[in-house]
Amino acid sequence: MKLNFQSPKGVPDILPQDQKYWDFVSNIVQKRCQAFGFDKIGLPIFEDIGLFQKGTGINSDIVQKEMYEVKRLSDEPDEDHIRYALRPEFTPGIARAYLEHGMQIRPQPVKLFAYGPVFRHDKPQKGRYRQFYQFNMEVLGAKDPLIDSLLLLLIWQIYADLGLKNEITLEINNIGCKKCQPKIRKELISLLEPLESKLCPTCQSRIYTNPLRVLDCKNKSCQSIVHTLPHLIDFICADCKKYFMNTLEYLDELKVPYDLNPFLVRGIDYYTSTTFEVKDNADPNKLTSLGGGGRYDNLLALYGGHDIAAIGFAAGMDRIIEKIKTLEIKVPSESKTDIFIIQIGAKAKKLALNLIADFTQKNYAVSCAVGKDTLSSQLKAANKVKAKYALIIGQREIIDKTVIVKNMTEATQDTIELAELEKYLNIKLNAGN
Ligand code: HAM
Repeated sequence: MKLNFQSPKGVPDILPQDQKYWDFVSNIVQKRCQAFGFDKIGLPIFEDIGLFQKGTGINSDIVQKEMYEVKRLSDEPDEDHIRYALRPEFTPGIARAYLEHGMQIRPQPVKLFAYGPVFRHDKPQKGRYRQFYQFNMEVLGAKDPLIDSLLLLLIWQIYADLGLKNEITLEINNIGCKKCQPKIRKELISLLEPLESKLCPTCQSRIYTNPLRVLDCKNKSCQSIVHTLPHLIDFICADCKKYFMNTLEYLDELKVPYDLNPFLVRGIDYYTSTTFEVKDNADPNKLTSLGGGGRYDNLLALYGGHDIAAIGFAAGMDRIIEKIKTLEIKVPSESKTDIFIIQIGAKAKKLALNLIADFTQKNYAVSCAVGKDTLSSQLKAANKVKAKYALIIGQREIIDKTVIVKNMTEATQDTIELAELEKYLNIKLNAGN
């Protein structure tokens, strides 16, 4: 069948049968974040394009190649003349909201989490989408190795709850602070300049715009050059070194396993100090990232805040769910239908209508098979939706003012007086039977 419309390239639908995975992941994230004192925040899906140009950074691929601009069809200019972009990540929006709503006056640090869709014009393939979902947490307003290690503990606990503890490696590095980053850049430029011709074209231009990014280029010839360079730990200042050592010490104390990756730099411009990434062990080249984050102690100053340190993390929910499915990790899939109403005959249909109105009003999940008339076809439909109870109303039940209540999991049944039905179901459903 040739259809007139399809979902956009790289923008998958999330079908009903997959919702249980999304519920599973978001419930774990919500539960764990709340246990660590994080509050949930909701943010606009589109924001001032400048927020991302300044924050995510003009040197990042996200801003240069992947961001979507939001435009109205009308030629009429908007009253504010602001250009808008679909959010490619949460961090700039959260930083903006923190400042805009005066969260500096709350006890610091402020801990916020969010999840939802983000948009990047990536080359669509498995695990790489143009609309994908992130869960994201940020700790704003303080800097301490304890904060970094506790955030990493939270991240570790989330992956453990998801059943992915043995499937991931937490890689960590420190890329220096405002004080030492200019020096690091200078030294990297002088080391890379003589090797320029051996680097890939992207890295050749990156030497001058963002030399740190050369360190995590996936190109083989760049990699072989990078591995001859001194490690970042040898470039960073004494304060950063001490901060890094303390963070690792706390991680050891918390028994959070990690790998040091001296070449780990991230593809977003705002990072400083601690950076980390959750790598998928199934990928021998360690290119698949199931999450990543780090400190961004200079970002809020770019938005008009003062010296406000912050750290955060985001994970790709689509990738995590693909992993859970590949590993066939069991996720809870509770039946959503409490009561399935089966009716045979015109009078039973009317009673069924009244029961639907009654029970939905009382917040039970009620279903029926409109258009199906036989008992067997309706029972089949009840089984398909994994209903907990089926109420069967035939001519006899109409005359007797009764209903047959069939327990669909145990395949037992009782005949209940209509007047007693609500009480009976209340007890059964609330006892979890
Ligand atoms: P990011 O590394 O750009 O960081 O993205 C985080 C995660 O989103 C990645 O590790 C990956 O799992 C997922 N992801 C990225 N691109 C795609 C894609 N095209 N399709 C599917 N999944 C994808 C950030 O976004 C930062 N905001 C993280 C952060 C928060 N840093 C500080 N606070």
